Amino acid sequence: MSGLILGIETSCDETAAALVDTSGRALSSVISSQISLHRDFGGVVPELASREHAKVILSVIEQAFTDAGREFSSAGLEAVAVTKGPGLAGSLMVGVAAAKALSIGWEVPLVGVNHLEGHIFAIELDYPEVQFPMAMLVVSGGHTMIVRAERRGEYDILGETVDDAAGEAFDKVARLLGLGYPGGPEIERLSRAGDPFAIRFPRAKTKSEYDFSFSGPKTAVANYVKSHPGAAGADVAAAFQSSVVETLVEKTVAAAITSGCASIGLSGGVGANTLLRARLAEEGERAGLAVYVPAKRNCTDNGAMIAAAGRFLLERFGPSDPELDAMPSLRLS
Ligand code: KG4
Ligand code: ZN
Repeated sequence: MSGLILGIETSCDETAAALVDTSGRALSSVISSQISLHRDFGGVVPELASREHAKVILSVIEQAFTDAGREFSSAGLEAVAVTKGPGLAGSLMVGVAAAKALSIGWEVPLVGVNHLEGHIFAIELDYPEVQFPMAMLVVSGGHTMIVRAERRGEYDILGETVDDAAGEAFDKVARLLGLGYPGGPEIERLSRAGDPFAIRFPRAKTKSEYDFSFSGPKTAVANYVKSHPGAAGADVAAAFQSSVVETLVEKTVAAAITSGCASIGLSGGVGANTLLRARLAEEGERAGLAVYVPAKRNCTDNGAMIAAAGRFLLERFGPSDPELDAMPSLRLS
C-alpha cells in the first residue's frame, strides 16, 4: 500500500485524528481532550461529549494534516479510517459522519474500525515487529480484557471484567478519596506519598480464571474509608493501586503463558499507569516473554491506532460499506 491513512477517533471524550504512513509510522497524532469539560460532573456527560466532538472535529483533522506537513487534501491519501464502535452513540456518530463526508468528498475508501482492535494496533505504532501469538491487556475506563492474538486480526478473548472496568474503579475510588476526575492519574499521584503495604485490600475471585472483577475491591475501599476516618488517603490510594496492578499483571502473564504466547502487550488509558507499565514489563520479561508497552499517548485513545488498524483492515478486507453506521455495543470478534 502506498498512501497515507487518516484515522479518526471520537468514541468517548477524546477527539483525535492522525496520519499514518505505509510503514505504519504516525506522521501526526492530534488529541483534543474533553477532560476539563467533564471534570465538574465527575465523569463523561454523553450529551456534552458529542457537542464538543462536533465543535472541534474539523480543526483536529486539519491539524493532523498540518502537523504531518501536508495540505488538507486527498493528495496521497489511501483511506479514511474511523472508530465505528464500541462507545457513546452520539460521540461515535460525529466521527463516522466526518469520515463519511471526507470519504465521499475526496473519493477515498472508508474503513470502519472496532475501537478495541484499534487499541491492539496501538502496539504496532511503537513496535513494528510484533511477535505472535501475543496476549494483549486492554485496560481503560470502559474495558478490561485480555485478548490473545494468534496473528494480526485473529482474536480470542481470554478474560474480561464481569463488572467495572479497571479505569472505572480508579475513577470511583478517587471520588471516594475526594480526588478529581479522571481518577487514575490522581490516584497514581497520591500513591507516591503512600505505603502500598499499609493496608491489604482483598483480591476478587472470579469464576473464570482470567476474568476480572473490580467492584468488590472498590467496595472494600469504601468500607475501609468509612471505618477508618483517620486513614491516610495516600496509603489507601497506594494499596488500592497496587492491588489492581498486581491482579492485572498476574492474570495477563498467566494467560499468556498457559495459552502459549510469545509476547504480551498493553493498551488503554490505564496503560498510562507507571506502576502497571513497570510491573508488567518485569513479570513478562521474567517469564521469558517479549513485552510491548507503547508510549503513554498511544495507550490512551488516539487516531493513530485507528489509522494503523484501518491500514490492516483495508489490506485484508477492502473498504467498508459507505453506509457505515456507528455501533455503540460492538464486540471484538
Ligand atoms: O482509554 P481511555 O483514555 O478512555 C476510555 O475509557 O476508553 O481511558 C480512560 C481511563 C480513565 O478511567 C482513567 O482514570 C484511566 O484511564 N487512567 C489511568 C491513568 N491514566 C488514565 N488509570 C490509572 N493510572 C493512570 N495513570
Ligand atoms: Zn479506548
